[in-house]
Amino acid sequence: MDFSKIEKDTLEQINSIKNLDELEKIRLSYLGKKGLISQEMKNLVNLEIDEKKELGKKLNTLKNLIQNKIESKRIEIQNIDLNKKMLDEKLDLTLPPRNYSNGKIHPISQTINSVINIFSGMGFSVADGPDIETDFHNFTALNIPPNHPAREMQDTFYITNEKNKEKLVLRTHTSPVQIRTMMNKEPPIKIIVPGRTYRCDSDSTHSPMFHQCEGLLIDKDSNMAHLKGCLIDFLKNFFELDELKFRFRPSYFPFTEPSAEMDIAYRKEKNTFKFGEGEDWLEILGCGMVNPIVLENCGIDSKNYKGFAFGLGIERIAMLKYGIADLRSFFETDLRWIKHYGFNPLNLTSKSGL
Ligand code: PHE
Repeated sequence: MDFSKIEKDTLEQINSIKNLDELEKIRLSYLGKKGLISQEMKNLVNLEIDEKKELGKKLNTLKNLIQNKIESKRIEIQNIDLNKKMLDEKLDLTLPPRNYSNGKIHPISQTINSVINIFSGMGFSVADGPDIETDFHNFTALNIPPNHPAREMQDTFYITNEKNKEKLVLRTHTSPVQIRTMMNKEPPIKIIVPGRTYRCDSDSTHSPMFHQCEGLLIDKDSNMAHLKGCLIDFLKNFFELDELKFRFRPSYFPFTEPSAEMDIAYRKEKNTFKFGEGEDWLEILGCGMVNPIVLENCGIDSKNYKGFAFGLGIERIAMLKYGIADLRSFFETDLRWIKHYGFNPLNLTSKSGL
């Protein structure tokens, strides 16, 4: 084999090439599986060891040389192509920009985010649980046994597990997550639970699906004053007001003792809400000291531990803060509504107060 001739011919051939397809053809004819160099490499097996060494070396050198030459030619052709393209193609800067519409953050998500922000500042962490609950977690463990009149307080959606006929419910409040947490964790406990809840109810301040945020604190020495302080602090923060017109009313929940409800004053002007002033009251949360029976139901020693709990209506506080008069409008998925009441993702300062 005349190496120097092959070398000379090949390099010349490669030099004259003008496009990538041709270059690839040449590459295959030398370096491809059936190419010249590969064939010669295969033939080496038949040679004596000395000859094999010498010829092998030469073949390798030739192979590397051709490979390098092809590579640099490839770069050269690509550069020429690119330069040509840049000269040929022109950007039309006079084209008007395309219209695109920004998504908005739903006021419910915005409200949940700021509730989480404020309570995490007070040292609460976020817990969650299933929307489809057992009767035990939603009622019985919360001191609402079957046939207890308190079951009538909450119009429940019942469902049956087809497989084992177990009676399940769409959780009517976020309180079952209190039970799940207390059964799985040693005190001290300090959680909030934002989430969906369901009741068979619909009017301008009720919707069959709505959101609550539960709060639960279990330790050795908390009391009702701590509960009130915590809620008042939260609301002043949330509504960004130093003075807020609110009231605590004595109430009844089987899982707290004593129990209270908290209302915020508002005035309805035309179709919007003005909050924190006025003569009307909107109930926004239920609360109280955790009933010792509930602690014991969850395996927590009620002689050693106590705590408080609250359940906050997310839509209610969103309606007040953002002046939305009808709760059902939150879930009507009307684009004009969300454009008006929604929040810009990258502009958290507008309306949100964060
Ligand atoms: N779960 C109650 C409700 O939905 C609210 C509540 C929670 C009351 C925690 C007291 C303590 O009405």
